[in-house]
Amino acid sequence: MPAKIPGTPVQLMPEIRPGQSVELLKELHILTRDGRINQDSRRKLKQVYHLYQFIEPLLQDVRGEHPDLSLVDHGAGKSYLGFILYDLFFKGLDGNPHIYGIETRPELVARSEELAARLGFAGMSFLNLSVAESIASDRLPARVDVVTALHACNTATDDAIRFALAKQARYIVLVPCCQAEVAAVLRKNKGAAVKREVLAEIWRHPIHTREFGSHLTNVLRCLQLEAHGYQVNVTELVGWEHSMKNELIIATRKGKPMPRQAERLNELLETLGLDELKARFFTPPRGAARDADRPT
Ligand SMILES: C[S@@+](CC[C@H](N)C(=O)[O-])C[C@H]1O[C@@H](n2cnc3c(N)ncnc32)[C@H](O)[C@@H]1O
Repeated sequence: MPAKIPGTPVQLMPEIRPGQSVELLKELHILTRDGRINQDSRRKLKQVYHLYQFIEPLLQDVRGEHPDLSLVDHGAGKSYLGFILYDLFFKGLDGNPHIYGIETRPELVARSEELAARLGFAGMSFLNLSVAESIASDRLPARVDVVTALHACNTATDDAIRFALAKQARYIVLVPCCQAEVAAVLRKNKGAAVKREVLAEIWRHPIHTREFGSHLTNVLRCLQLEAHGYQVNVTELVGWEHSMKNELIIATRKGKPMPRQAERLNELLETLGLDELKARFFTPPRGAARDADRPT
């Protein structure tokens, strides 16, 4: 006779939602083979559920317009987010809703493909591409409704923004990871900046260069999204005890570029001596707002 396993039965765990696949949670190692949950998994699950609360209304909104909802998750890793979104929302929907995971590590792509096949999650695909490569890939549909990037490393979040802008995605959901590029340029140009202006005190000390660089990166991303016609909300994902990288940026496409925000973005880059980052934080061409008003 098998030994009785101590611990809370799965059906009594508040973390497990009705209808949720226990098999999936085991496969993602959120639940152990004997159906228990450890502290680390609880943290991960809490983070993904919390994010789900923000994403679900966006998915509902798109579904209200057409059934073939498409979501692309960049820097998917083991695809926790994609699998849980599929399990809680996409599974069993009519039409052809689809989730695409973009990931550079081939072993994670293979693992996710195998898991999706085993669970019968036919509306999931995993592409072994970098985020930058995915922009021109014909393996992705022309229309992408929702773009997510959860802790996509370094500039992968910026590439995800570029992808979303190219696809004119309706919603963009970002939980950025640390980005080293802005801090590196601040560091490189620090000497000149300190001589030039008092503002450079904000990032003169090395730890401040890193922290300010990280904060500034997200400020620039938000301005960029606004410049391209998105309404941006920035909030906290979960308490700091759950993750150090905790900023959640949700952008909703409104359609009309905002030249004022483009100006402010460029002014900020110039003031901080970061002109060389204008290509990274590119803004719409002049006149784009006027063109958006023209009837097609
Ligand atoms: C910190 S993990 C996050 C994984 C997942 N989104 C999560 O939150 O569990 C970042 C993932 O992004 C992948 N990655 C990093 N740079 C990438 C790029 N440029 N394009 C696609 N994937 C990338 C890494 O291989 C890694 O699996």
